[in-house]
Amino acid sequence: MSSSGYRPQSVSEVLARGIVSLAKYIESPRTDAQLLLSSVLGRDRAWLVAHSDSFLSRPQSERFGELCEKRATGMPIAYIVGTAGFYGREFVVNDKVLVPRPESEVLVDDLLAYLRTRLDPAFPKQLLTVLDIGTGSGAIACTLAAELAAVTVEGVDISLAALKVAEHNARRFNVFAKCKFRFGDLASGIGDRHFDAIVANLPYIPTAAIPKRPDPLSFEPHEALDGGPDGLALYRRLLPTLPPLLKPGALVLLEAAPPTIAGLFEIARASFPNDEIAVVRDLSGLERYVRVLTAK
Ligand SMILES: C[S@@+](CC[C@H](N)C(=O)[O-])C[C@H]1O[C@@H](n2cnc3c(N)ncnc32)[C@H](O)[C@@H]1O
Repeated sequence: MSSSGYRPQSVSEVLARGIVSLAKYIESPRTDAQLLLSSVLGRDRAWLVAHSDSFLSRPQSERFGELCEKRATGMPIAYIVGTAGFYGREFVVNDKVLVPRPESEVLVDDLLAYLRTRLDPAFPKQLLTVLDIGTGSGAIACTLAAELAAVTVEGVDISLAALKVAEHNARRFNVFAKCKFRFGDLASGIGDRHFDAIVANLPYIPTAAIPKRPDPLSFEPHEALDGGPDGLALYRRLLPTLPPLLKPGALVLLEAAPPTIAGLFEIARASFPNDEIAVVRDLSGLERYVRVLTAK
């Protein structure tokens, strides 16, 4: 015990305290406590295990307590620590952007595989173009730009605060020169341009189904969740505007989830009546996105 009355606590002691304080509210108290402590100490979880006897300073111990209190309110851990993993990179996030979801990684896999098929070895300077509508944190846009040299991505969002985060991430991953972020309503203002691929992960939750506190979703920005009365208001406006923006043989990926995705499929089919169209499942077997491959 120090003269100020503070008894230094070890990593294992504060972790135990954190787990107990979270257990009532959170399904994964141990993992969450480790992530929060990692964030406070600037160390990874392996370090915590290897240094369970190390002592924390008083400010570190108090900071950890504060983060546990926030987590106990239901706030997503990504907003507390300020980052979220996506496709092997740590994206900076705040409460102005949706936390990028691992489910969206299947869209990125699909896009990358498709874009690679469009590369022509006879044209080494070829640059493919992708439009990412509702770019949010820039998770999809920055990942595409980082994974594939021959691509430029335009990310659009109606939230200026989200665009700031996307730009920050593009700089963080050294792809700022390959990504252009712009304020806009869906695809309006794109002009007379044609893309190799368009991806959109627009809000698709019906307004009345958006959860309330303490559900973690309720901490995410309303404009990133609210898809209108049936969840499809934005996609219904977007789809008819897409065909003129595509090159022949282009790919369109539209993210949603059951039950909304069945309606999204119909809306997409109405705008692309003669093209190849399918619903694709994610790794947990849930219908995750509508895929349109236009005719060559
Ligand atoms: C579900 S989040 C997806 C974010 C990101 N693409 C991702 O996958 O993590 C939807 C995004 O669409 C944006 N958005 C909502 N309405 C929009 C509109 N009318 N035009 C452009 N973007 C919009 C929101 O601000 C939000 O960033």
